[in-house]
Amino acid sequence: MGYEILEKVIELTDSSEALEKRFDSLAKSISQSLSFDQCAIYLFDEERKIFSLSAADGDRNDLVHTYHDGEGLPWSAIKKNRPIIANISDVNDGRWRGIKDNGLLGFATAAVYPIKDDTGNYGMLYLKSRKKKIVPLRKRKLLSVISLQIGMAIKTNECILNLTSVNTKMRDMQARLIHAEKLLALGEMAATLAHEIKNPLMSIGGFAKRLSQQFTKDAPERMYADMIVKESKRVEKLLHGILNFSTNKGFDLKDENISSLIDDTLALFEDEFKRINIKIVKELKGNITAVKADAEQLRLVFTNLFTNAMQAMENGGILTVKTDCVEKWITAEVTDTGGGIEPSIIGNIFNPFFTTKAEGTGLGLAIAHTIVANHKGMIEVMNDIGKGVTFLVKLPALVQ
Ligand SMILES: Nc1ncnc2c1ncn2[C@@H]1O[C@H](COP(=O)(O)OP(=O)(O)OP(=O)(O)O)[C@@H](O)[C@H]1O
Ligand SMILES: [Mg+2]
Repeated sequence: MGYEILEKVIELTDSSEALEKRFDSLAKSISQSLSFDQCAIYLFDEERKIFSLSAADGDRNDLVHTYHDGEGLPWSAIKKNRPIIANISDVNDGRWRGIKDNGLLGFATAAVYPIKDDTGNYGMLYLKSRKKKIVPLRKRKLLSVISLQIGMAIKTNECILNLTSVNTKMRDMQARLIHAEKLLALGEMAATLAHEIKNPLMSIGGFAKRLSQQFTKDAPERMYADMIVKESKRVEKLLHGILNFSTNKGFDLKDENISSLIDDTLALFEDEFKRINIKIVKELKGNITAVKADAEQLRLVFTNLFTNAMQAMENGGILTVKTDCVEKWITAEVTDTGGGIEPSIIGNIFNPFFTTKAEGTGLGLAIAHTIVANHKGMIEVMNDIGKGVTFLVKLPALVQ
């Protein structure tokens, strides 16, 4: 009688098929082997305090799909902390010993076995028969073993899911670490180079300016000299970025309110935003936990994000800036409606010198990333292709 069921029960923890699918064939095997008309497996949702139907043999239409807190035989079994075998006197009543359960309608015998262990409830095994029947002791024992095994399978499955998610998080952290190391090495190298180039460059730019003044306005030599001035200014901007990117800079850490820091930074952009028709939506939490931060550096992070958003919305749009406190993190979200980022380049945007702009240095996001990482935070991008981008900055909230 029980071998086929036991085989199915063992398969629960020994197969890569989805648990719910395995439950379906188990439910069928239980009702057939133990001569019940219906067998259903419910799973317990601890947070919502409900039992919801996971698997059943045959037609699911005459089954109750959800038992809310305190409802029906499942909750009685939980309260009594033992299985219930119910013999119902009136099949049209849907009630046993005063307990209303619509799942009982049309049935004369029901058996409810909690699926649980010492740590909690996982669900319910619910068997029904249209004819009145006695459930002998050996069948009851078998049902107890089955429900125990189902509980173990659910727990094992949860453990596997948790492990998979921890594994994904670890891989993600590893990737971040490699990226941070890469940036650090690049930053150090770039800073040394920048330092070496800065002085001769200033001489080139300065002398070219003087040279330019020696020629009349329409002389081609003046145009050449002006070009040298313009280009050396561009390289100077690049060097400035590289030096900012260098991680060797000292940090001046103070308790900072991120909402007011963002508000101050945003104020510098207001005129320019108005000019190109960008509407600002501010959802800045006033009374927000402080972060330990170098205000100057953090301002640079948001300056870079606002600049990128502005450049993405050349023809106007909406910039939404939100701050919040989520668990141990202070979060700041910058969302634009500039059309988003090409999926093929999104993996590169935090890499130094990666740019799609004619005048860009490609250091804005790399600098933002380094600064946020130096504050033990994270910066993430959410891309909504065709609509816009959200940059999420997470910084550790100051412990109070
Ligand atoms: N809000 C955004 N919308 C669309 N694309 C963006 C956005 N922010 C960044 N990007 C993309 O990421 C690239 C890298 O940005 P980053 O700020 O690092 O450099 P940049 O803006 O090109 O140059 P710089 O900041 O030095 O002027 C950009 O060239 C652009 O392609
Ligand atoms: Mg930029």
